[in-house]
Amino acid sequence: MDRRQFLGWTGIGMLASSFPLVLAACNNDEEETATTEPAANTEAEPEIDRSVREDGFQAVGTIQDLESEGRILDKMADVLVIQSPQSQEIAAFNPLCTHQGCTVAWNAEATRFDCPCHGSQFDASGEVVSGPATKPLASYEVKTEDDWVLVKVS
Ligand code: FES
Repeated sequence: MDRRQFLGWTGIGMLASSFPLVLAACNNDEEETATTEPAANTEAEPEIDRSVREDGFQAVGTIQDLESEGRILDKMADVLVIQSPQSQEIAAFNPLCTHQGCTVAWNAEATRFDCPCHGSQFDASGEVVSGPATKPLASYEVKTEDDWVLVKVS
C-alpha cells in the first residue's frame, strides 16, 4: 500500500466513524424542538389539584375540556369521563377493557366505547355490545362543581 492509498482509506474510515455522531446531533435537535412546544401549551392550562377530597371525589379536568373534547381521559386515575352528545349527560368509567385491559376509546358518533385490541364494544352505559369482553366497564360517580369535573373512584 502506498502513501496515497493509506491516506485514502484513513479518510474514509474517519468519515464513516463520524457519521453516527452527525446523525445523533440531528436527532437531538428534533427532540428538543418537539419537547419545548408542549411545555409552552401546558403553561396556559389551569393546574388540576388531583388530591382526593374528604367526600372521596377528585378533579379529573375542567367542564370546558369535557365540552370541547367530548371526553376526559385521566390515565393516572384510570378514569374516562364522557358527555353524551344527545342528552349531554356525564358519565365516568374505568377505561380498561374488561377483556384483557386495553384502554377503550370513546366513539362519540356511534355513542359507544371501542376497544382497539380485539374489537369489544360497550354502550354509553358501559354494557357490552359485542365481545370478546363479557363484563361491563366499571363505572364511577361523577359530578361537576364550579369549573371542575369530579369523579369518585373508590
Ligand atoms: Fe379489549 Fe381484548 S382487550 S377486546
